[in-house]
Amino acid sequence: MTQKPERLQITDEELNAFTTAVKTRFGLDFTSYEQKSLKRGLIRLISKKNLNSMLGLWGQMLKDKTLIISYIDELLVNLTEFFRNYDLWQKVKVDVLKEIGYQNELTIWHAGCSTGEEIYTMAMVLKERFMLHKSKVLATDLSAKALAQAIEGRYNNIIWDKCAKSYALYNPEGNVDRFFSREEHNFNVVNQLKKHIRFQRHNLVQDEMDEQFKIIFCRNVMLYFDSVLKMKVLKVFYNALADDGFFIIGYYDMLPYESKEMFTLHCSKTRIYRKNLNYKNNLSKE
Ligand SMILES: C[S@@+](CC[C@H](N)C(=O)[O-])C[C@H]1O[C@@H](n2cnc3c(N)ncnc32)[C@H](O)[C@@H]1O
Repeated sequence: MTQKPERLQITDEELNAFTTAVKTRFGLDFTSYEQKSLKRGLIRLISKKNLNSMLGLWGQMLKDKTLIISYIDELLVNLTEFFRNYDLWQKVKVDVLKEIGYQNELTIWHAGCSTGEEIYTMAMVLKERFMLHKSKVLATDLSAKALAQAIEGRYNNIIWDKCAKSYALYNPEGNVDRFFSREEHNFNVVNQLKKHIRFQRHNLVQDEMDEQFKIIFCRNVMLYFDSVLKMKVLKVFYNALADDGFFIIGYYDMLPYESKEMFTLHCSKTRIYRKNLNYKNNLSKE
């Protein structure tokens, strides 16, 4: 008989053994993820697969090595929405784009883009500012499943009202309908928005990034990282951010104290930062 999720418990030892084994066998590093949220994800996964314990889950993963991808997808929290925190998008429109939008090319990285709502939100903002044609957008995520939906750009009508309402808060005069084609059960992002976006499976914890960006979004991703892991990832962002670039994190993301020299706060409410060039200069002196 399978256990009810609320009865299942995962000990610290079990979690450590699991993350270490996943790292050694599959090369995916979850060892510094926030323990509570990983445990919650594993409990969800174990009960969804009608298993009883971590041991059962591990047994299945060893029997069929292809399962790791779908299991990892289940562990990652993919929650996102169109125009999430509408005031951020107003700030991006009137402030960030005003400052760098005159440039010939706008390079943007959405790190941890999930199912795509954040990318397409930005694409709508850019389109309305007549800047999408000169934008090169990279959208990355570790979850293959989330990325597949982002690429498809198809969303269930259940979330349409929320999307339209959030857009109206962002821009009461605008017309959100022009960005989607509607079907009986779904709404689809128009190709005009999609064609400027490149999608790539990318693990922030392990993979390199050798491009430079004017804007980097990493919203509600680092919530699940401990401070050592955050520092590792923040260095990747620092190096990938253009000198005059903007770094945008989620409303509940906490930057570790050790990173305070890396970025300077541009807007505390909307969590927009800029690159602190003194940090780079100090680094090069070391
Ligand atoms: C809560 S969603 C945030 C989506 C979007 N940025 C937003 O704020 O609406 C977090 C995303 O981070 C991704 N993620 C978690 N760990 C990651 C990693 N190591 N590398 C890349 N993406 C990761 C998850 O797959 C998930 O899609």
